[in-house]
Amino acid sequence: MTNIYAHRGASKYAPENTLPAFELAYEMKADGIETDVQLTKDEIPILIHDENVKRTTNGIGFVKDFTFAEIQELDAGSWFSKKYTGTPIMSLEEFLNWIKFKPLYLNIELKNNKIDYEYIESIVFEMVQEHQLLDRTTISTFNSESIKRMREINQMVEVAYLTSKQNNKLVTYAKDLGANAIHVNYRLLNDRLMNECLRNDMKIRVYTINRYPSMKQCFHLGCNGIFTDVPDKALSYRIKTLG
Ligand code: G3P
Ligand code: CA
Repeated sequence: MTNIYAHRGASKYAPENTLPAFELAYEMKADGIETDVQLTKDEIPILIHDENVKRTTNGIGFVKDFTFAEIQELDAGSWFSKKYTGTPIMSLEEFLNWIKFKPLYLNIELKNNKIDYEYIESIVFEMVQEHQLLDRTTISTFNSESIKRMREINQMVEVAYLTSKQNNKLVTYAKDLGANAIHVNYRLLNDRLMNECLRNDMKIRVYTINRYPSMKQCFHLGCNGIFTDVPDKALSYRIKTLG
C-alpha cells in the first residue's frame, strides 16, 4: 500500500512545519509526516523549509545566524492566517516528543543542499535514536555527500536520496551512495523507474502529490509513499481507488 505522508504537515490547511499542521495531519489519520530540518547558530535542529526565515515568519535572516532562543521569539503562523498568530517554530526535539506515542511514520528531510550544515547528520541521527524512533524514520536529503555521511554513521537507518533531476541510472546511483529509498519529483515517475526500484529493492516515494490524476498513478504503480499537502483528500481517494 502507498503510505500517505503529510508534506510539512497538513500544509494546505495550517502553517507548514508547525504543530497545528502536524496535529491536523494526525487527526486526518495520515500514515506519516514529512518535515524539513535546518540548524541554528547554536546547532539546534529546527523545523523550517527555507534557509531564510523570511517567507514563513515575521523575521528576516538566515536560520544559521539565529540562536535557538532567538528563533523561539519568531511568529511562524501569521503569514499563513491571522488565526495562527504566535505559532512558534518547533525544534526537532519537540517534534520527536510529540510524535513518539502516535502511530505515524516520519520523514525528516535534511535541508543541507544549499547550506551544508556541519554535523547535521549525526545531530539528527542521534536525536532520533535517543527517542527510539529509528524503526519508523526515513532521513532524506538532496545532498549526495550527506547520504554517504549518514550511511557511515549508521548502516540500518532508512536513508532516501531526493531528486528532481532526470537520470537513467538514478536507482543504481542512489544505491551506490548507500540510500535504500529514492524520493522523486512526480515528473520522474514512470514504469521503467518502478521496475528498476523493484529489481534493486529500492523504495520509492513521490512528491508533491496534490491532485487526483497523480495520486491515482502513484497508487496504481504501487509507490511506497506520496508526500501531499492534502492528506485528507489523498486518504479518501486511496480508499475509493484501492478499496
Ligand atoms: O521530501 C519531499 C519534498 O518535501 C522535497 O521538496 O522543497 O518540498 O522540501 P521540498
Ligand atoms: Ca521537504
